[in-house]
Amino acid sequence: MTSSARLVILVFFGFFAISTAIAEIPEKNYGPQSPSYLRCEYLKDPVAIDVEKPRFSWILNHTYRGQKQTAYRILVSTSPDLENADMWDSEKVFSDQSVHVEYNGEPLKSSTTYFWKVCYWDNEDRLSGFSSVNFFETGLLLEKDWEGEWIGGFNQLRKEFTLDKTVIRARAYICGLGYYELRLNGQKIGKNVLDPGWTVMNVRALYSTYDITDYLLNGENAIGVMLGKGWFGSRSLILQLLIEVDGGETISVVSDQTWKGQEGPIITDSIFNGEIYDARLEASGWDSPGFDESDWRLASLAIAPKGKLSAQMMQPIQVMDTIVPLKMTNPESGMYVFDMGQNFSGWVRLKVKGPRGTAVQIKHSELLYENGKINTENLRSARAEDVYTLSGDGEEIYEPHFTYHGFRFVELTGFPGVPTLDSIRGRVVHSAVAQTGNFSSSKEILNQIQRLILWGQKTNLHSIPTDCSQRDERMGWLGDAHLTAEQAIFNFDIAAFYTNFIRDMQDVQDKNGMLTDTVPHVWGQRPADPAWGTAYPLMVWYMYIYYGDKRILEEHYDSLKKYVDFLRSRAEDGLVKFSHYGDWVSIEKTPGDIVSSFYYYYDVKILSDMADALSRNEDVKSYKKLCADIKKKFHGEYYDSETGNYANGTQTANLLPLFLDLVPESEKGKVYQNLNWDILYKNNTHLTTGIIGTKYLMEVLTDFNNSFLAYDLAVQTTYPSWGYMIKNGATTLWELWQNKTGPSMNSHNHPMFGSIGAWFYKTLVGINLAEGSVGFEKIRIQPHVIRDLEYAAGSIQTIRGPVECSWIRLDKSLSLDVTIPVNSEAEIIMPKLNLKDISVMENSLLLFSEGRFKTGLAGIIMVDETKTSINIKLGSGRYSFKLIGK
Ligand code: BGC
Repeated sequence: MTSSARLVILVFFGFFAISTAIAEIPEKNYGPQSPSYLRCEYLKDPVAIDVEKPRFSWILNHTYRGQKQTAYRILVSTSPDLENADMWDSEKVFSDQSVHVEYNGEPLKSSTTYFWKVCYWDNEDRLSGFSSVNFFETGLLLEKDWEGEWIGGFNQLRKEFTLDKTVIRARAYICGLGYYELRLNGQKIGKNVLDPGWTVMNVRALYSTYDITDYLLNGENAIGVMLGKGWFGSRSLILQLLIEVDGGETISVVSDQTWKGQEGPIITDSIFNGEIYDARLEASGWDSPGFDESDWRLASLAIAPKGKLSAQMMQPIQVMDTIVPLKMTNPESGMYVFDMGQNFSGWVRLKVKGPRGTAVQIKHSELLYENGKINTENLRSARAEDVYTLSGDGEEIYEPHFTYHGFRFVELTGFPGVPTLDSIRGRVVHSAVAQTGNFSSSKEILNQIQRLILWGQKTNLHSIPTDCSQRDERMGWLGDAHLTAEQAIFNFDIAAFYTNFIRDMQDVQDKNGMLTDTVPHVWGQRPADPAWGTAYPLMVWYMYIYYGDKRILEEHYDSLKKYVDFLRSRAEDGLVKFSHYGDWVSIEKTPGDIVSSFYYYYDVKILSDMADALSRNEDVKSYKKLCADIKKKFHGEYYDSETGNYANGTQTANLLPLFLDLVPESEKGKVYQNLNWDILYKNNTHLTTGIIGTKYLMEVLTDFNNSFLAYDLAVQTTYPSWGYMIKNGATTLWELWQNKTGPSMNSHNHPMFGSIGAWFYKTLVGINLAEGSVGFEKIRIQPHVIRDLEYAAGSIQTIRGPVECSWIRLDKSLSLDVTIPVNSEAEIIMPKLNLKDISVMENSLLLFSEGRFKTGLAGIIMVDETKTSINIKLGSGRYSFKLIGK
C-alpha cells in the first residue's frame, strides 16, 4: 500500500498511523488539542461551592494516538478574559495529573465568580491551545456571611425592596425547609424542585445558589417564597440576596421579621400523601411588587436546623422528562384511569377547565386490578393523592410543589366533563444526574434489563439514593445504596451525588463509630446491619478506584477507622455476627451471621487498601493482620469440609467467601462445584440469592471461568429471574423476585437487583479498571464473547474521558472497536474463540500473524498471545481491530 492510500484510509478513521502521512498535514491543526469538559469538584456546570481548595479536572484531546500529558498550566482569574490570572497561575507544572488538581492560588472569597482555563503539553512537549474558559463560583464560605434570620410561621412569605442603581451581578442564597419555591418579580427562579436535598439536618443543611441578575428590576422588586414541609417536617427559611450594583456597592436583602406571610393555596403537603391545593386561595400578584399585603401578617422566627449551612454541590432535583399517557380507560362512571406506560417518580401535570370550586382528585399507583381500577395496596400508608380545586378562571394548569409519587397509573375523579389523553402529562422528577453510560447487545432481553435498571436507578435518585419511590418509605437504605453503586457509576454522572451521600454517612455516625441502616436516619436501627453499614467504606472506595479521588479517602479515613473499630468491638470470637436483614429478599435463606462476617472482613480489607493508598504503613500492617485473623476464623467457623459447603450451603453462603478469596486454595474447587451444582441442577439454572448474593454472583461465576452460566442466569425468563419480571410487564425492577400485588412489601420500583448492570459493562462489553489502577488511568478491555451473543457495545464517561468498546462476532472473526482517553493506557484481551491460524488487523493494517507482532502501528505498544487470547497493549486513541482465524 502506498503511503497516500494509507493516509486516505487513516484519515477516514480520524487518526494518523505513520509519520510520513503527518508531514503532509498543516502542522497547526494537528497534535494536542485544547482540553475540554472542564470540571471543578465533579461539576461541569457552575454550581456554587464551599470548598477551600477546589480541584480541577479536564479531558485531553489529541489528534494522534498514544498520547499523554507531561505538563499542564492552569490560570484562574476574577475576570473572564483571563488576561491577568490574578488568582492563580500554576505556571508550567511537570506532571501527568489531569484530574483532581488542587487549586493553589490566592484564598477564595465568598460569593465570587472565578474563571479558569487550562492547557497541556503532550509526550513530545507540544503545547495544546488553552481550553475555552470555564467558571466556578463560591457560595457563602463562612457562617458569619449569613446575615438573615430563620423565619417562618406561614407557607407563603414575601418581601419588597427597592433598587436604584444598575445591577452588575446578583445571587440568591437560600435554604427553605423542608422544601421551597423561590420567586422573584412574578417568576420562579431556577429549575430546582423539591429543593434542598435531604440531609442529616442536625449536622448539615444545604443551601442553593441562584443567579438572579436578570430577574431584578430597577425600582421596586418583590421576593416570594413558598414553603413545604418536606422531610424536615416544619417550614423555615433563611435567604440572602447579594446584589452588586454599579459603583462597587453590594446590597444585601435578607430574611427577617419584617417579611410578611400568609397561608397560601397549599392546604396540606406531604411527601407520602400528596398535596391539596385550592386555586381559589391564590393571591394574584403576591410575588410581584406593588401587591396589597395589608392583610398579610409579619413572619415569625422559625426553628432552624441545628446543622451548619453548606453549599449543595450536587445536581439538584428537577423535572427531567415529560411523558404522554398511552391510554385512558373509564372503569367506573366518573373515574378515568391513565396508563403512562412507564413506572417512574414524579407527578402529573393537570390541564383542566371547569366551574370554580370543582375538586379533581389525582391518585397514583404502580398496579391495576383486573377490573381496570388502580391497585394502591402496595403503597401501604402512602395516600399518594393530589387534589386540585379549580379557581374557575379559564384553562388551569396544575403541578404539585412539595410531594412526589412513584407510579405508572393515574386515576382522575371529580374531573369536570370527560378528560382526554391531553388532560395529563407525566412529569419525571429526580436528581438531575445525567445518563453517561450506554450498553446494548444483540440479545434483546439484556437490553430490556438495562432499560429497567436505568429507569429504576434514576427514579430512585432523590438527593439521596432511595430504596423505592412510591410507598411510605423512600429511605436511604445503605444496603440498597452500595449494591447499586457500581452499576450507577457506569451508567450515570454520579460522583457529585455520591460525594454528598458519603458526607451524609459521616454526618450520621455517632461518637462510637456506629452508623444507621438508613441515612438520614428514620427507619431501621443504629447500629446498622453490617451488610448495610458497609456502604460507607465501600462507596468511599468506589469513589477512589473509579474516579481516582484521593481526597475523599483522606476526608473519611478517620471516620471509617472508627466504624471498623466499632465492628471490632462487637466481634464475637473474631467474627461479627449480629445481623438485621442478611441476604435480604432471597429465595433461599442464608444465615445472617455469615453475611455480617463477610462484610466485616470486606470492611477491614478496604481499610487496609485505603491505608496503603494513603501510605499509612502502620495501619496497613495492623489491618492486614486483622484480615488474616478474620479469614482464618471465617473458614473455621462456617466451612464443612465433608460437604464443601459454607454455612447452610446456599448459593449466597458459598459465593461470598469465593468472592473475597476467603476459601483456601485446596477447597476452592469443591465450594465452586457446589455453587455451580446448586444453580445448574438443584435450581435448573436459576439463582436463589437475595440482594447481597446477587451482587457478587455474576462476578464469582465469571472469575471462575464460567461467564456462560452467569449469562444463562442473565437471560433466564422463568421465575426467579430478571426476565421473569420483564415477561410480567415490569418497566422498572421489582423489590422481590416474586410477582406479588398484595398489600405487603412488594414495591415495583426498587433498584437493588440492578447490580447486574455493572456485570454488563465489565464482562459483556469488557470495560474494567486494570488491576491496581484507579480513575481509569490504566484500563483492561476484556469482553466475554459467549453463547449466542453476537455483539455488545458500551461506552462510559470516565473522569479522564470516554471509554468505549464494541465488538461483533462474524463467521471466524471478531471485530472490536475501542476508544481510550488521552493520558490513559489499556490492555485489550481479545478471545481467540477456538480459532486457529489467527491474524489480527488494525484498520486494515496487519498487526499480528503467525504468532508475531508487526511493530510500527501508532499507539500500539505490544501484542502477544496466550492459549486463549490475543493481548494488545496500547495508548490513547480510537482503534478498530479484527481478529481472523480458521
Ligand atoms: C427496604 C429495603 C431495605 C430493607 C432493609 C425495606 O423496607 O425497602 O430495600 O434494604 O427494608 O431490610
